[in-house]
Amino acid sequence: LKAIILAAGYGKRMRPFTDTTHKTLLRIGDRTVIQWIVDALVANGVGELVVVTGYMATELQQSIDAAYPDLSITYVHNERYAQTNNIYSISLALNSIEIDSEILLIECDLIFEPNVIRRLLDSPYPNVALVDHYRAGMDGTVVEVADGVITEVIVPRRQGPGFVLEGKFKTLNIYRFSQEFCAGSFKKLLNYYTAVINDNDFYEMVLGIIIFLQQETISAEILTTERWTEIDDPNDINVARFLFDASSRKKTLDESFGGYWNYDVLDFCFLRNMYFPNGAVDSEMRNSLPAVVRNYGSAQGILDAKLAYYLLCQPAPLTVLNGASQVYPVLQAYFEGRKALLPEPTFGEYTRCFPNAVSYRDEGVADLERIAKGAAGCEVVVFVNPNNPTGTLLPSAGIHAYAAAHPQLTVIVDESFIEFSDQPGMVELLERAPLENVIVIKSLSKTLGIPGVRLGYVYTRAAGFRDALRKSLPVWNLNSVAEHFLEVILKHRQAIDSSYRRTMEDREHMARELAACRGVRRVWPSGGNFLLVELHATREECGQMASSILLERGIYVKDISRRFPGDRGFLRLAVRLPHENARVVEALQAVEIPVRERA
Ligand SMILES: Cc1ncc(COP(=O)(O)O)c(C=O)c1O
Repeated sequence: LKAIILAAGYGKRMRPFTDTTHKTLLRIGDRTVIQWIVDALVANGVGELVVVTGYMATELQQSIDAAYPDLSITYVHNERYAQTNNIYSISLALNSIEIDSEILLIECDLIFEPNVIRRLLDSPYPNVALVDHYRAGMDGTVVEVADGVITEVIVPRRQGPGFVLEGKFKTLNIYRFSQEFCAGSFKKLLNYYTAVINDNDFYEMVLGIIIFLQQETISAEILTTERWTEIDDPNDINVARFLFDASSRKKTLDESFGGYWNYDVLDFCFLRNMYFPNGAVDSEMRNSLPAVVRNYGSAQGILDAKLAYYLLCQPAPLTVLNGASQVYPVLQAYFEGRKALLPEPTFGEYTRCFPNAVSYRDEGVADLERIAKGAAGCEVVVFVNPNNPTGTLLPSAGIHAYAAAHPQLTVIVDESFIEFSDQPGMVELLERAPLENVIVIKSLSKTLGIPGVRLGYVYTRAAGFRDALRKSLPVWNLNSVAEHFLEVILKHRQAIDSSYRRTMEDREHMARELAACRGVRRVWPSGGNFLLVELHATREECGQMASSILLERGIYVKDISRRFPGDRGFLRLAVRLPHENARVVEALQAVEIPVRERA
């Protein structure tokens, strides 16, 4: 068995890194890319390598020879690497070596665990390609698979408009071919194609032709849990480090604060409705995406009116935002120097907006009277209802009555999670009984399940603040995808309502399951789509637990112990789908959490 590694290319897409180094000499964790590949081969007993070099051939060869002095390595140099593609490199290799055994063909634009190669070697078929289910973010050639056999190879230039990637399989570009196949039709067709048609093409074209002509069968081994990732462009490096350098995993997630579609992680940290958008909304958005992204969104007044149709309220007090977060800089500037009362802990942006605020401790009890007492001497009172991260829910009517009784106060109500509770929203109450001292802030990321679209709003009759907010907005504030989403949701009210009900049911079920875990001291009652879990563990133990849950189970939880007094661990867990919630419950049951004094 010989392995041919194709490493001639310049790696244009990996610029700027490849301006000064070979793509496979980039480091991921404790090794270079080429070492990851060679180590995986060696671990499976493959000791005969053929490396096709081109760009920075000397550096690459020296590096490999230094790292593997005992391996038998043949170098085949593709002098025309800058004008040709991998089809030429592979044909050059097959013409240069003796084809006296099976051949593994490996491109060097990916790294993988040794068990990936094991899958290839264990396959009973003579010609085998490794494939994986297509996932968002993958690119390159995809294949159709039926009954374990590749039926069509679709190279990127054939993936035109309307091409649906779902249900397709991504080729890893790792193959095992029989001696007969390599010496016969594959080599002959590669030579013909490079000589007559195009030597600056992908060798997958030739595989596609062979499959189309039904001359040979290429089986597909579909990966399940084996780890691998592409290294095509600079963004892939972070993803690869996440996968293959476990020590960096938590830091990567903490620092990126989103963008998690890149990472293979079950995210219990960020909060969104798991039952909406549903499939119907997805397909409507998908169909309109090409037209929508080619257009500017509408003027603010039109956007406000579109949101008002959904909320069934007056448009005048509304200002649609590019996510609720857009309000915070305005809030900070407008209320600078005014004394505010905040819950503690709460959503971090409020503490940043009001750095000198006084706070009342949220202990999980809805006690408006106690809060009101703390407001003496304040000009602004902030309610986050339900509060994040505690889940504590206050009666909306009580907040309305409080604001009505204190017209000299500005009452800010963030009700980003209110639909996951049994309380009406403030907008509904303020439509019936308007007040000029209330500012409602609302993120739609959570309740409508669209953090990536960026939608939120402010509803207020506080004219000074509303004017300051509107003045701060750019001429086109919402992206057109967000605007279109506001149109689409009008048709899905029932599905939205039922998504809230299902989330609440799932939350209550999850709360019961968590409360039964030995290490759990208390699960706080919650009006949101998340649960605050108080542990018997100390802060430090809680931190270790969060890290081990990520490392061992790929589950990311939010450790918020530092937001509470005393040395006790606190986790905030998103409510996801029931089978996912079961996984986090199982993880908490499994870790050895000390059981200290029972509550
Ligand atoms: C209470 C609260 N308000 C507002 C936001 C901001 O939401 P966005 O900017 O995604 O609309 C968040 C996000 O976590 C939140 O928890």
